[in-house]
Amino acid sequence: MIIKDNQYYIGPHRVDELCCRFGTPLYVYDAEIIRARIYDVKTEAGVYPKTEFLYAVKANYNPFLIHHIVKKGLGVDAVSPEEVRLGLLCGAKPEQILFTENNATDAQIDEVFDLGVLINVGSLSHLGRFGRAHPGSRVCVRFNPNIGIASHESNITGGADSKFGISFQDVDRVKGLIDQYQLRLVGIHQHIGSGWLRLREPILALDVILDIAKQCDGLEFIDVGGGFGVPYRPKEHRLDMKTLGRQIAKRMEQFCASYGSDVALRFEPGRYIIAEAGHLLTTVSGMKQSISRRTIVGTDTGMHHLVRTAMYGSYHEIVNITNPDGMHQEYDVTGNICECADFFAKNRMLPEVREGDILSIETAGAYGMAMASNYQFRPLPAEVLVDEDRVTEIRPRQTFGTLLAQFGHVSFS
Ligand SMILES: Cc1ncc(COP(=O)(O)O)c(C=O)c1O
Repeated sequence: MIIKDNQYYIGPHRVDELCCRFGTPLYVYDAEIIRARIYDVKTEAGVYPKTEFLYAVKANYNPFLIHHIVKKGLGVDAVSPEEVRLGLLCGAKPEQILFTENNATDAQIDEVFDLGVLINVGSLSHLGRFGRAHPGSRVCVRFNPNIGIASHESNITGGADSKFGISFQDVDRVKGLIDQYQLRLVGIHQHIGSGWLRLREPILALDVILDIAKQCDGLEFIDVGGGFGVPYRPKEHRLDMKTLGRQIAKRMEQFCASYGSDVALRFEPGRYIIAEAGHLLTTVSGMKQSISRRTIVGTDTGMHHLVRTAMYGSYHEIVNITNPDGMHQEYDVTGNICECADFFAKNRMLPEVREGDILSIETAGAYGMAMASNYQFRPLPAEVLVDEDRVTEIRPRQTFGTLLAQFGHVSFS
């Protein structure tokens, strides 16, 4: 978002005009930012020549966004059969998709297998069941390197207590099952957490997976998952992706030289691709003072549209679109949901906020709409994609009618 002559713009479009046209609450995504982030990962993280990128669609599964990203050459990291099917619908080929199962049922694994998509198995028992059902097949195995890092402890997916992956200590048991069912272990995988901005843990975890890789023959790829963080706070540093890319490339090249073949490297960025492209625009629907004289801003959105602050205490920058020059004052910015956790900021300095102002909640593209719900029977907002001159509604706003339709035919007369 840029400001010009006191007006905020997303691409060439005035934010207030987008709100007039589509109403609020409204998610707006900027295709130019998506393309810029894809360029970053490809050129900076992808220094190793045989690097492939799979977009983690769990970050934002709007099909129009997936299609845009797949057209730029990314595959799809999917965690549900429905995400797999969506990836196919959006133009990814089966071989560009990895299904990282998590407590999947046999029926779900079979469904994805029949679509020709590689399964990334996350437990010894599932590996055994997969082997019995599909002997001789290609398979990928997710390991837990006993290292985790994330922006919030709930997003750490590696480490001693994590439910994800097979322990790094169980390589022999994995190899035993692979031999027993004559499976072809074509890939090994790890994902240690989401939203990290430090390099130390990802590099340590890479060393662990490379050590595992040395013990496995015939690998086609090593997948180190996603997790690249983005700065949510104004002065937060960006991830040093160039250094990360160089360090990983060096280790991959050393590994391949001793392994005897060029194994591909895979990354699965979700947040990094889409977070900064997304803005949640909302209208200030009420202002009040609490008993303790805090100034409470009420908005026409809430934790049902962006749960990250309520769930993780995440910081999101807030911009007063209507009154950029207002005198800065301290506010609590809240939503319209009947829960005390329903807020976006506490004690936040913002240019004077008035009823009717439009606020933009920033860096909302990842795990925003994807985690939104109909809690308190409230409709989901519309989503719009800005691509230079073009503005496309990529998801219509829900209405009472579409909410009710989820229950089939409802009539009691
Ligand atoms: C297996 C796997 N890959 C990739 C990702 C994407 O993570 P991020 O959005 O932080 O890049 C996740 C997120 O949970 C994941 O579980």
